[in-house]
Amino acid sequence: MEQWPGVIERYRPLLSLPPDIEAFTLLEGNTPLVPLPRLAEALGAGALFAKYEGLNPTGSFKDRGMTTAVSEALYRRSRALVCASTGNTAASAAAYAARAGLRAFVLVPQGKVALGKLAGAMAYGAEVIQVEGSFDSALAMVRAIAEECPLAVVNSLNPYRLEGQKTAAFEICDTLGRAPDWLALPVGNAGNMTAYWMGFRLYAREKGTGLPRLLGVQAAGAAPLVLGHPVDNPETLATAIRIGRPVRGTEAVMAATESLGRIIAVSDKAILEAQKQLAGQGVWVEPASAASLAGLTGEVGAGRLDLRGKTVVCVCSGHGLKDPAAITDRLPRPRVITADLHALRGVINL
Ligand code: F0G
Repeated sequence: MEQWPGVIERYRPLLSLPPDIEAFTLLEGNTPLVPLPRLAEALGAGALFAKYEGLNPTGSFKDRGMTTAVSEALYRRSRALVCASTGNTAASAAAYAARAGLRAFVLVPQGKVALGKLAGAMAYGAEVIQVEGSFDSALAMVRAIAEECPLAVVNSLNPYRLEGQKTAAFEICDTLGRAPDWLALPVGNAGNMTAYWMGFRLYAREKGTGLPRLLGVQAAGAAPLVLGHPVDNPETLATAIRIGRPVRGTEAVMAATESLGRIIAVSDKAILEAQKQLAGQGVWVEPASAASLAGLTGEVGAGRLDLRGKTVVCVCSGHGLKDPAAITDRLPRPRVITADLHALRGVINL
C-alpha cells in the first residue's frame, strides 16, 4: 500500500496554489471519522462521527493549513514566519518551519496557553513570545510587525491556510461518499468554519457530494459571532477559542447562513461534560474540541434540532494531550496505595 502523501499532494488540483509549488509536509490529514454509536443514540441521530483532527502530526487540524501556508511562504522565498496563537497554530507553525528550515516567531497570550501546545512550540524550536494580553492583541501586533519586517504571517487571515484546511471537508465526503447532513465545529478565529464551507462547496460542484448544514459553536464567554459584536475580554477554559475579534468572522457568519445552519454559544460546563462524554467513547479531545458535541447536545436538548435519520459529523479539532491540566486540575488525583498485594485487593473489589 502506498503511503498517504499529505494534503497538498492528495488534493493538489483542487487547491489554489502555485502549480509548481514544492510541498513541505509532515504527511498531515487522512484523519479518521470515528463512529460514535452510543452518542448518536443519545442524540437521536441516524449516525454520528468524530472527525478526529487531534491525530494530525502536531495534534491539531492546524497542520492542514500550515503545510500550504509554509510551502507558499517558502515559494515566495520568505525566511521567517510569524503568527499569534492560542497555542495550536503556534505548535504547528513551529513544526512546519522546522521542516522547511525557516525561523518562526510565535506570539501567545501569557498564562492562557495549554501546556502541551507551549511545549510543542518550544520543542520544534520556535521563538516563543508571551504577550501580556489576549490573542486578539497579539494578532494586532503580528499584523503591524509584518508591515515593517519581511515576515510571512501564517494566521488564518493568510488565504493559503484556508486552502489547506478545506481538505478536511474533502476527506469527510470521500469517506462518507457524500457530505454529512450536519457538521458541528468549534469556532474561534473562524478560519476553520470558513475553510470547511469552501471545501464542501467546491466538492459539491466538482463531485456532486451535496452540502451540509453547519453548526458553529463558540464558548459563551467568547462568543462575538453570536452576540454580533467584538468581545473585549473573552474568557473560557477552552483557551483555544478564547478569541473576541475573529478575523474570519464575516465569512463564517455567511457560511452559517448559506448552509442553513447557525452559530451558537455553549457554557464551559457543557464543554466539559461533552469532553467527558467523548472520552467515555475513547476519544479524548481538548476542551475547545468538545464544543462541537456540546453544541449538538444543547440544540437537541432544547428541541431546536432534530437529528432523526441524519448523518452528523462533529469536528474534534485538537487532541486531549494538548491540555492535560484541563483534566488533572479538575478531577481528583488518582489514589495512592502501599506497595503490597493486600492493599491492592482492598481496591480491586470485584
Ligand atoms: N479548535 C482548536 C483546538 C483550535 O486550536 C482552534 C483555533 C479552533 C478550534 C478554532 O478554529 O480559529 O479557525 O475558528 N486555534 C487558533 C490557534 C486560534 O491559535 O491555535 P478557528
